[in-house]
Amino acid sequence: MPILFTNDFPNALPRINELQVSKTAELLLALSAMSDAELSILLVDDQHIAELNKTWRRKSGPTNVLAFSLTEGEDLTMARNLLGDIVISVDTAIREAQREGTTVQHRLNVLLVHGFLHLLGYDHERSDAEAERMFRKEKELLLELKRKRRREMIRLAVNVDHVATLREARGISEPDPVLAAGICELAGAEGIVVHLREDRRHIQDRDVVLLRQTVKTKLNLEMGATQEIIKIALELKPDMVTLVPEKRKELTTEGGLNVAGQKKKLKNVIAQMNDGGIPVSLFIDPDSRQIETSHGVGATFVEIHTGRYSDATSEEEAEQEFELIAAAAEEAFEAGLRVNAGHGLNYVNTTRVASLETIEELSIGHAIMARAIFVGLDQAVREMLSLMM
Ligand code: PXP
Repeated sequence: MPILFTNDFPNALPRINELQVSKTAELLLALSAMSDAELSILLVDDQHIAELNKTWRRKSGPTNVLAFSLTEGEDLTMARNLLGDIVISVDTAIREAQREGTTVQHRLNVLLVHGFLHLLGYDHERSDAEAERMFRKEKELLLELKRKRRREMIRLAVNVDHVATLREARGISEPDPVLAAGICELAGAEGIVVHLREDRRHIQDRDVVLLRQTVKTKLNLEMGATQEIIKIALELKPDMVTLVPEKRKELTTEGGLNVAGQKKKLKNVIAQMNDGGIPVSLFIDPDSRQIETSHGVGATFVEIHTGRYSDATSEEEAEQEFELIAAAAEEAFEAGLRVNAGHGLNYVNTTRVASLETIEELSIGHAIMARAIFVGLDQAVREMLSLMM
């Protein structure tokens, strides 16, 4: 494995998206045609980096990043398999992020690029011309990273609740959402979503057990944060859960979670899920406060509620709502959260949302099932996928 990542930063907060740091490092290697090289990244606190700074550079006090090359003095092309170590102080990154008004995650990326360039032999302390050269390269790599990270995304996860709704209307055994999930996967969906409601109005316990055994892509269990369903989720171990507000009388999920209003409870549920190895997504409205708090309570993902955009009754309103979704997705992504979106997306309004490069996955149910009645499920999924390319 080319990236050896160690998080030795002693505090739990800020929550660092470790996967994103490793991915950024992998992309840096790929962009520099060094995918087979080995790079070690160590996140530490100020005290730790100050010790290293003193030992190796005879400088007192902490610094933001140190790079220890294993190729010092050697021809890089000869020794490119072992690049070296990048040590970053998260304490300093936090202060710098605050000073610059950016996120800690973004600052970590900048410091990673900086350290990486040192390992490649760039050195801004050598001369003004060298500093300029390094600065230009840093900017270029950061831009490339941003483009590359975003271009790789967008998947379709199909919500098969409605298949169960039809089954329950008759109270018999078909149509079976488990079979529907298989057809969706064969057609190219990369995830299956089901909402196990407290009242079991559509998806049943038997469905989630069978889906856990049969889904080959990713099973996302949508759920309200109640004790009964939490227990089921911890036993079932879906690939992820999406926490939604659940009201007994609603026809479908009506709005995003008020994360800010139930911080303590959600933090607790997320910790329980994470301890069980289950990443958590919070279904939220496109609202800055909800994003900030989602990050604060330790969510891995947010799912941005696209319902108001989908229900807009004028072009002007749709435009406004789309702008909110775009800004929220950007903000969440930059904060280090992984971003999904969904609700009310259909064959007319999905392409625009799918074009947002910060969104990884769209969760779509009703529109696909409605079309499937006329054209078949396989084709309905394929047509939706073609709109997302
Ligand atoms: N995301 C969430 C959190 C939902 O609750 C739903 C509806 O079950 C969806 C996405 C899918 O919405 P739709 O069925 O309108 O495509």
